[in-house]
Amino acid sequence: MGKDVIIALDFADENEVFSFLDLFKEEKPFVKIGMELYYSQGPDIVKKIKERGHKIFVDLKLHDIPTTVKKSMKVLSKLDVDMCNLHAAGTSAMMEAAIEGLTREDGTRPLLIAVTQLTSTDEERMRNELLINEPIDKVVMHYAYNAKKSGLDGVVCSPLEAGKVHEVCGSDFVTVTPGVRFADGDVGDQKRVTTPAKANEIGSDYIVVGRPITQAEDPVAAYRRCVNEFVKGE
Ligand code: C5P
Repeated sequence: MGKDVIIALDFADENEVFSFLDLFKEEKPFVKIGMELYYSQGPDIVKKIKERGHKIFVDLKLHDIPTTVKKSMKVLSKLDVDMCNLHAAGTSAMMEAAIEGLTREDGTRPLLIAVTQLTSTDEERMRNELLINEPIDKVVMHYAYNAKKSGLDGVVCSPLEAGKVHEVCGSDFVTVTPGVRFADGDVGDQKRVTTPAKANEIGSDYIVVGRPITQAEDPVAAYRRCVNEFVKGE
C-alpha cells in the first residue's frame, strides 16, 4: 500500500479550487472533495479535477438502504473517482451492496472506506441518544471489523487509532486519517492532532490535510513538507 497525502479541498466554489490547484506546477496531489463542494458544484467538479490528472476521494459518507446506496455508488464509480466512503452504521447489508454498485464491468473499483463513529460523537451522546452502551473505542474497532468483513478496504480514523485498526483488521486494511498538524503549526478546531511524521510512525496509510496546506502562505511548500515528513520520513 503506497502512502499518500490527500489535500482536503474545503473551498466554497470552483474558482477558489482552481486557483489553488493552479499553484501546483510539478505535482498532481491526491485531493478530497467534501459535501460542501460537491453539493454546490455537482459532479462536474469531479470531472474537471479528474481531467487535470488528480486522484480524487469523494467524501460523501453515504448511509441509506442498501439498494439506494448501491445505485449511488454506481454513479460515483462512473465518475471515475479513486476513493469514496460510507457510514459503517448502515450495516453489512448496505456495505456489501455498496461494493456491488462500485464494481465496474472490468472488475475494478474505487477504494471504499468506512466512517465508524464520527469524531464529533462522544461516548455520552452515543449512550444517551444512540443507546449504544459499549465504550466508544470498542464500538469503533467493531465497526472497522464489520467493514473489513463486508469487503471494504479501510476506515477513516484518527491517526492515534491507526495502529489499533491495523492490529484488529490487518496491516493491509487502509487507514485514512485527518487531524494532522505540523509540529509548529496552528491546531485550529481539531482536538487530537498528530504530525505527519508521527502519523507515518503509527501506521496511517493516507493523511487528509486541509488548512495546514490550503491556508499556508506557500501551499506548495507546505504540501511538499507534508509529503517529505509523511511519505519519505524526512
Ligand atoms: O483543515 P483540516 O486539516 O482540519 O481538514 C481536515 C479535513 O478532514 C476536513 O475536510 C474535515 O472535514 C475532515 N475530517 C476531519 N475529522 C474527521 C473526519 C473528516 O477533520 N473525523
